[in-house]
Amino acid sequence: MDLAGASEDRPPSLSKGLSEPWQGPFHGSDALQPATPMSKSFCQHCAQHLEFPEEMAGQEAVCPSCGRTTTLRAVTEPARIRIPKPPPDALNSGRTIMRGMMTVSVQKYSAAQRGIHWLTLLVLVGSFATNDAMGAVWEAMMRTGAAEVTTGARTHQILGITILALTLTRLVLRFAQGVPAPVAGQSALVTLASSIVHGLLYVLLVALPVSGMLAFGGGIAAAGAAHGVLVVLLLVLVGGHAAAALVHQFVLKDNLLARMR
Ligand code: HEM
Ligand code: HEM
Repeated sequence: MDLAGASEDRPPSLSKGLSEPWQGPFHGSDALQPATPMSKSFCQHCAQHLEFPEEMAGQEAVCPSCGRTTTLRAVTEPARIRIPKPPPDALNSGRTIMRGMMTVSVQKYSAAQRGIHWLTLLVLVGSFATNDAMGAVWEAMMRTGAAEVTTGARTHQILGITILALTLTRLVLRFAQGVPAPVAGQSALVTLASSIVHGLLYVLLVALPVSGMLAFGGGIAAAGAAHGVLVVLLLVLVGGHAAAALVHQFVLKDNLLARMR
């Protein structure tokens, strides 16, 4: 059907929407008849705005703009466009905290917090590199009741005490400067797990040097044994912690590492 002149085997051609109002069957004397309810549509090929009588909905028609056949689908409301959700970005999950009288948003760890985090890793490597020397002195001490402290053993102690000092400073900074909020959209369980691991890491970073000092300084054998157990716990937790950081970076791709860089 052609709207200007009906024909059965060809889809009707249409008017170009509001710019050229539809001049359908109501011409001349017909124009006085009640207006046909109209619907609006768009050409599927060239997006030309079309108007057509409501009863033609679902039929095919020739677009007056591009001349191609299009299906008349009434547009009753603005098309809903699906805007893809942006991937979570750890840097945009900032928590607002009170600092003095000011409210600030923490997007990443402060420079001092970041520095201490990576320095701790470095000093830990040093502690592990010197544990054999410390172990030898400790063994001799337990056997004979006294032992000469070697440079390696002394280094182990100094590095351990440095970790204690760094950790205490870091905890003060954490309290004073705040930390970024958990990644937005992250499940509560993951957030809880990470808080537990971070909390345990802090406990170990304090308990390890303290147990070492009690062992060496106080000659307490049980503290030495506890020191050895805590070391294993630390290795397990740091392994899990580093693995989680890699998952965030390469699987979840949420930019979490940027908070600590
Ligand atoms: C975070 C800091 C520290 C780390 C990561 C650390 C790590 C270690 C490791 C890996 C061992 C060998 C454990 C084993 O062979 O079973 C060890 C032994 C030892 N460390 Fe430390 N240590 C730290 C701090 C200290 C401090 C501050 C002292 C003393 C001032 C100390 C004293 C000892 C002693 C006496 C041993 C021999 C006893 C043992 O084997 O358990 N450590 N430490
Ligand atoms: C091996 C490489 C490591 C990587 C890639 C890494 C990465 C990270 C990242 C990305 C964060 C921020 C997490 C968040 O904002 O939720 C973080 C936090 C933390 N890391 Fe590591 N880390 C590493 C090693 C270590 C080591 C060796 C320790 C200490 C033994 C450690 C202790 C911590 C602690 C305690 C936090 C929590 C900080 C806070 O909220 O106060 N990390 N780490």
